[in-house]
Order: sequence, then C-alpha cells, then structure tokens
Amino acid sequence: MKLILLGPPGAGKGTQAKMLTDEFAIPQISTGDILRAAVNDGTPLGVKAKSFMDAGGLVPDEVVIGIVAERLQQDDCGNGFILDGFPRTVAQADALQANLQQMGKDLDSVVALQVDSEALVERLTGRRTCKACGRGYHVSFDPSTKAGLCDDCGGELFQRDDDREETIRKRLDVYDEQTAPLISYYRDGGMLVELDGMLPIADVQETLLTALRAN
Ligand code: AP5
Repeated sequence: MKLILLGPPGAGKGTQAKMLTDEFAIPQISTGDILRAAVNDGTPLGVKAKSFMDAGGLVPDEVVIGIVAERLQQDDCGNGFILDGFPRTVAQADALQANLQQMGKDLDSVVALQVDSEALVERLTGRRTCKACGRGYHVSFDPSTKAGLCDDCGGELFQRDDDREETIRKRLDVYDEQTAPLISYYRDGGMLVELDGMLPIADVQETLLTALRAN
C-alpha cells in the first residue's frame, strides 16, 4: 500500500496514519515529525527549518523533496508507505511522481480528509503530544487517562510551538494557497478518495479502511 494522506493542519492525518501503520505493517513518513526531530537535535537541517516552521510557513521544496527521496529508499518502504504531510506543493507532488517512477513504483491511493476550518483550530489548540513516544491526544476529543501523561509509555505530554492560534491560522492560509491545489491535481489523476474528516476518530478510521480495501 503506497498512500498519501492529504488534508489541512489538524485534519487527522497523523492520527489515522498511526492506525494504518499497524493495520498494513508499513511505515508512516511524516515530514513534520522528521523536521521537528531535526530541530530538537539542532542538526543543520533543523537550524534551516526552524524559522519556517515557527512562522507557520513551508520549509523550502528542495529540502523536503530530498528528505523524502532518501527516506523512500530505506528497506522498510519495500511493502509500501504512508506519506503524512508530503507532498504539500505541486512541485513536491511532481518530484514525488518522478521519484517513484525512477523506483518503478506507483501510488495506490491519495486520501483527502475534509474538515471545517473552525474545527481545525479547536483540534490544534487542544492537541497534546507525548515527548517520549510521539503519540497524539486531544484534551477533549481524545484525552489521556492521567492528565499530562501518555497512556502508552507514561511520557510527559506537551503542546507544539506551532499550535498557538495565530500560527495555526497562518498554517491554514498556507494550506489554502499552496497545498489545496493538490486536491484537483490528484483528482484529475483519478486517484483521489475524499473522506469526511469531521466524524469521530474511530468512524474516520472505519471509512478510511473501507475505502482502502475497496481500492
Ligand atoms: P506537520 O507536522 O505535517 O503539521 P500539519 O500538516 O500542520 O499537520 P498536523 O500534524 O498539525 O495535523 P494532522 O492532520 O496530522 O492532525 P492530527 O492527527 O495530529 O508540519 C508542521 C510544519 O512542518 C509545517 O507547518 C511546515 O513548516 C513543515 N513541513 C512539514 N511537512 C512539510 C512539507 N512537505 N513541505 C514543507 N514544509 C513542511 O490531529 C490533530 C488533533 O485533532 C489531535 O489532537 C487529534 O487527537 C485530534 N483529532 C484527530 N482526528 C480527530 C477527529 N476525527 N475528531 C476529533 N479530533 C480529532
């Protein structure tokens, strides 16, 4: 299964990708997670990416295209992958297509999760993430059992720097301008599945699995 999860910030891409990695035994490739790890480690990539991420903008295409091209070569992608947060521009989508072609691979599906913008703001302001294992929660929609602590590993939960309302609104504008055009890009290519991402997490999961199995 070679899949792209498309959707605005907070649509539930990461939440659903984690479930799909278990279901299909394929890796989640989240460019956001890769970039945040680089920022935390203070690598040259992280230093370069930080100002773009803090401002709610996109990291330059050439940087993320290179990261994903390298990641797709790794052994664990042999049976497929879930791209979460990539591509985000038409240039990234074109580069991915060229890259996959070179590797003799093709995408199976592109799933777009549709969610209203006010719901996105509510989801992102309430999101909490485990520092240790990366599991995501929501203070109202998907809370941990013990406030501030991860159910899986007991790690401390934190709020992402870019999940402040002003930055969220900037990220949503950037999505509309630079990423939303990918909906018609993939629809025209005949591989887009559009799903209602406003449903509760478990219902989105069910419709997503049904759509992928039918594909
Ligand atoms: P990235 O980390 O990719 O952030 P994003 O796309 O803004 O997506 P999010 O992680 O915010 O949302 P999500 O859709 O995964 O939602 P989630 O499942 O967590 O990117 C961050 C930054 O890195 C970018 O701004 C950019 O600077 C840079 N970057 C990354 N990739 C790049 C690229 N390709 N090119 C250039 N720059 C790049 O859910 C959100 C919350 O909602 C959670 O609390 C969850 O519990 C809750 N929730 C989920 N589903 C539901 C539901 N159905 N009902 C109720 N609550 C729900």
